[in-house]
Amino acid sequence: MTHRTSLSRRGFLAGAAALSGAAFLPKVVAAGPQFELTAMRAQAQLLAPPRLATPVWSYGGGLPGPVLRFKQGDRLSLRARNDLDRPTSIHWHGLRVPNAMDGVAHLTQPPIGPGEDFLYEFDLPDAGTYWYHPHMGGAEQVGRGLTGALIVEEETPIRVDRDLVWMLQDWRLEPSGEIVPGFDSPHDAMHGGRIGNHVTLNGQPMPRIEIAPNERLRIRIINAATARIFALDFGPLAPTVVALDGQPVAPHAPEGGVVLIGPGMRADIVLDASGGAGAAVPVRDLFRPDGAYDLATLAHGDTPLRANAPDWDMALAPNPLPEPNLTAATRHEVVFNGGMMGQMMMGDEAPAMTEQMRQGRMWFVNGRASDGHDGPPLIEAKRGSTQLIAMENRTGWWHPIHLHGHVFRVISRDGKPTMHREWRDTVLMAPEERVEIAFRANNPGDWMLHCHVLAHQSAGMAALIRVADAA
Ligand code: C2O
Ligand code: CU
Repeated sequence: MTHRTSLSRRGFLAGAAALSGAAFLPKVVAAGPQFELTAMRAQAQLLAPPRLATPVWSYGGGLPGPVLRFKQGDRLSLRARNDLDRPTSIHWHGLRVPNAMDGVAHLTQPPIGPGEDFLYEFDLPDAGTYWYHPHMGGAEQVGRGLTGALIVEEETPIRVDRDLVWMLQDWRLEPSGEIVPGFDSPHDAMHGGRIGNHVTLNGQPMPRIEIAPNERLRIRIINAATARIFALDFGPLAPTVVALDGQPVAPHAPEGGVVLIGPGMRADIVLDASGGAGAAVPVRDLFRPDGAYDLATLAHGDTPLRANAPDWDMALAPNPLPEPNLTAATRHEVVFNGGMMGQMMMGDEAPAMTEQMRQGRMWFVNGRASDGHDGPPLIEAKRGSTQLIAMENRTGWWHPIHLHGHVFRVISRDGKPTMHREWRDTVLMAPEERVEIAFRANNPGDWMLHCHVLAHQSAGMAALIRVADAA
C-alpha cells in the first residue's frame, strides 16, 4: 500500500494558500493504513452567525465529512465506527466494489450498531469523483449531514491550477437553526422528496470563493442533497463538463449552458476564470424558474494569473470499464409509477398499486413497492452478460435512478440516441421520460437499483438486481 500523506497534504495546503478565506474547504484526508471514520453528533454553522450552530450528524465531526483522496489503483482500508445512538452503514456511491463492501445494511452487511465498527476494504480501479453516505435510514441519516467526498486521482490528471470539491447539501431548518424533524413525511414522499429551505456548499451558505483572473479550476460538484435537483449557471463563465458521475466524458459545454445534477450525481467541470479583474460572478441554481437563488460567488481578484485563459487539454483518460455488448443484450422493460397524481398513469395495475399506497408505499417499480431487499429480484443476470434496461418514468416527478456495483452507459432518451453515450451510475429521468441504459453485469451479488430521492426510495422506489454465475 502506498502512502499518500505528503502528497495530499501538499495539495491541500497549496489549495488553501491560494484562498483568502480557506475555511470553506472540507478537510482532506490521505489514504493510509488503519484509517478511521466515525459517525457522530456534531455542530455546524449552517446559518450565518450570530445565529446558533445546528446540531448535525457528521463523519469525523466536520461538515461535510473529510474528502478521502486516493490514487487510481490504491486499496482503501477504512474502519467505520458508529458513535451515534442508532445503527448505520457506509455505501461508496459509484465505486465498483465487491458486494460485501457495498454498505447496504440488511442486504450486503448487518447494520453497524451503536458503539460497533466495520472494516471496509477494497481496490479502487476507477479514477473520479465519488462520495460516501449511510445506506440505512437514508432520508434521515443523509439529511442530518452524514456524507463526504471520495476522490480517486488519475495516474496523469488533466492540468489545472486548482482541483476543488463542491459538496452540495440541502437543509430544512427552523429559524433557530435546528433541523426540522419528520424525515418520513408522507407529503414529501408523494411529491418531490424533502426539499429544504437552506442550501450549503461545503457546509457553508453562499461562500465567497476567491479566484485569480485566468486561473483554471477543476470543480468536482457532488449533489448530496436528499431531494433537491440543481441546474447550475455560471453567468458569463463557460464551464466545460469533463466527467459525469466520476466517469470521463468527451469535454463539452453543458446542454442549455447549465450543469443539471440530481441527487447522488456528480459533474466534474473545468472552469476558466474569465470574468475579468474584480468581477464577482454568482453561481446560480436555476432549476426552479420561480425560485432561482445564488449558491456561491466566484470573486475574481485583481491580479491575473496569466494573460489569457490556458489552452490545456481537458480530456481525461477513460476508466477500465467493461463495454456492454448491445448486439447480445438482454432487454428489460422497467416502469416507474406512483406519487401524487400517479393513479392517472397506472393503467391496469392501478388497483394493486392503490392498495399498496394505502399502506404507505407510494412508488412502484413494475407495479411493486419494495425496499430493494425483500422479494424476488427485478432482474437476474448471468455474470458477464449485457443488460439493457429500458426505463419509463410514468410519473409527474423527476427521479435520479441509481444502480449499485456497476457503471452503465446512457444509450437513449425518449428513443433518441444520447450524444455522449455517457457512463453513469445515476441517471436523472424527467417526468414521463424514457431512458435506456446498458451495462455489463460482471460484478456478482445482489445490487440495488433505486431512486436517489431518498424519501422516494424509502416509500418503495427500489428494486434488486442479482448477478450470478448461473442465472
Ligand atoms: Cu448513493 Cu443506494 O445510494
Ligand atoms: Cu424518485
